[in-house]
Amino acid sequence: MNNSLFDAAGHYFAAVAKSYDHLQPVVAGPGYAGGITFVVDLIPRQDEDSFVCVELGCGTASLAKSVLDRFPHASAVALDSEPAMLDIARRKLAPYGGRARVTEGEATVCALPPADLVLSAFMLHHVPPESLGALFQRVSGALNPSGCLIVLDTMRVGAPWGEAIGAQSRRLYQQHINAAIAAGCCTQDEIDARWEFKRRMKAEGKDVEYSHCAEDLAAAVQEAGFAEVGVVWRRFAFTIMAAFKP
Ligand SMILES: C[S@@+](CC[C@H](N)C(=O)[O-])C[C@H]1O[C@@H](n2cnc3c(N)ncnc32)[C@H](O)[C@@H]1O
Repeated sequence: MNNSLFDAAGHYFAAVAKSYDHLQPVVAGPGYAGGITFVVDLIPRQDEDSFVCVELGCGTASLAKSVLDRFPHASAVALDSEPAMLDIARRKLAPYGGRARVTEGEATVCALPPADLVLSAFMLHHVPPESLGALFQRVSGALNPSGCLIVLDTMRVGAPWGEAIGAQSRRLYQQHINAAIAAGCCTQDEIDARWEFKRRMKAEGKDVEYSHCAEDLAAAVQEAGFAEVGVVWRRFAFTIMAAFKP
């Protein structure tokens, strides 16, 4: 068992930052990389358009990097509250020069720059339900007219799953893990160590997660002044919601 994670102090994301890009696409399951790719496909802009994108909870900024690669005239502000994740984001986005800015901030309270597009991948489940309304209000205030918000996260939608759907989800997850190990992406020990560390961090209150329901998120987004809100993609719990400013 790889115990190096347990030697690191502090918040969950401070400890996992170094292994995040390597391990996250594996341990998060097949919906992680597929969801991020589809967020970029969904951006309602032409490849040659110039626009400003803000990514909330950017982590190591893989999504912001994909946006800058796809749209060579776009610029991105990548925001996160965890300095260790931002160190990696800064290195990753350095080649984009003035097109990329990496900034430390708490998304629920910090000032957001004016933007045409706000993206967030797997951050909302760290935001408590009572803070979502204020967050979406501030996103709405930062977005220019016709601006777009796209969020990717695990969400509950509609009726709870039965046992058969849960079993299918676990089967596909295990296939994904097996394929990643067979391809040499990581080892079973690394995966086990990460899950054990996550369990401990949760028990210590250093990795707090909430299970949001898509209908509640959509209502909060609508309440914040967005005209169109919809779930546009789903792979089991991995869900993408898009919304537009009038
Ligand atoms: C699961 S990671 C996702 C990172 C990246 N978006 C991705 O898709 O891989 C969640 C990230 O959100 C950040 N985060 C959580 N709550 C935040 C908040 N209130 N403000 C800013 N960042 C936050 C964490 O520090 C972490 O980097």
